[in-house]
Amino acid sequence: MNITSAKAIYFSPTQTTKKIVQAIGQGIQIPSIEDIDLTFAKSNGALPRIHQNQLAIIGSPVYTGRVPLPVISKLQGLKGDGGPAIIVVLYGNRAYEDALIELRDIVTEAGFKVTAAAAFIGEHSYSNPTTPVAAGRPDNDDIAKATAFGRMVREKLSASSRTHEMAPLSVPGNHPYKERGALLNISPDTIEEICTKCGQCASVCPTGVITVGSAIVTDKSGCIKCCACVKICPTKARVMQEPRIQQVMAQLTVKCSARKEPETYL
Ligand SMILES: Cc1cc2nc3c(=O)[nH]c(=O)nc-3n(C[C@H](O)[C@H](O)[C@H](O)COP(=O)(O)O)c2cc1C
Repeated sequence: MNITSAKAIYFSPTQTTKKIVQAIGQGIQIPSIEDIDLTFAKSNGALPRIHQNQLAIIGSPVYTGRVPLPVISKLQGLKGDGGPAIIVVLYGNRAYEDALIELRDIVTEAGFKVTAAAAFIGEHSYSNPTTPVAAGRPDNDDIAKATAFGRMVREKLSASSRTHEMAPLSVPGNHPYKERGALLNISPDTIEEICTKCGQCASVCPTGVITVGSAIVTDKSGCIKCCACVKICPTKARVMQEPRIQQVMAQLTVKCSARKEPETYL
């Protein structure tokens, strides 16, 4: 199959999905790869139609074992033309449950042939030095695996002349999908005494719910709990101190301490 260019499409508040999607793209070695970062895109925003001889690499984080709702709405305008797609989910070393099968279904419904799929591990959004979970991942080993996976996809694409000759791709997960976890009306807080009002928290918030003034005000109802604001804060003034999250993290630090490895499906 003659693939002329690729689009790397991802939602990635804390950048782990972005890193893996880009590493896969490097492994594929297509000269022209356009980045489409949906993190700050509007829902239903215009996405370019992706032609049959273009490859789409589509990445999403896993939230409560599913594709997050903001990703679903941002992918709504996605349209393929029967061309190949690679799908990838990033999860925080707990489990990805039905996220990969859900992303496969979304991307198939949008008109792509899902040719390859993968689940990689990224530092958990709620990881912190006291309760670390998958801290520092993806690391060099993960990136090398993502690049190697990209090379394998390239070989698979080169070996077949048309996507419709490829067998449907089977990935782990269940129908119906598991229930989404309840979205709590919480958000990270700011310790005003050590906050310098630099505004970096507001600049990385995908939903724009942080206002920087004489104090930092967060509209909790629009917060997706991605913790991009916590990870970027240079003075560690932004913290997720909600007791329910701290309790979950105390459990995950113990239960999910064993390193999980990326899984790939071709
Ligand atoms: C609301 C929420 C729910 C999450 N649920 C899961 C989960 O079910 N399983 C898991 O292993 N990680 C879970 N995570 C962690 C993220 O999947 C992980 O940190 C991912 O690497 C974040 O991607 P990003 O860096 O592209 O934003 C969750 C994170 C958030 C914010």
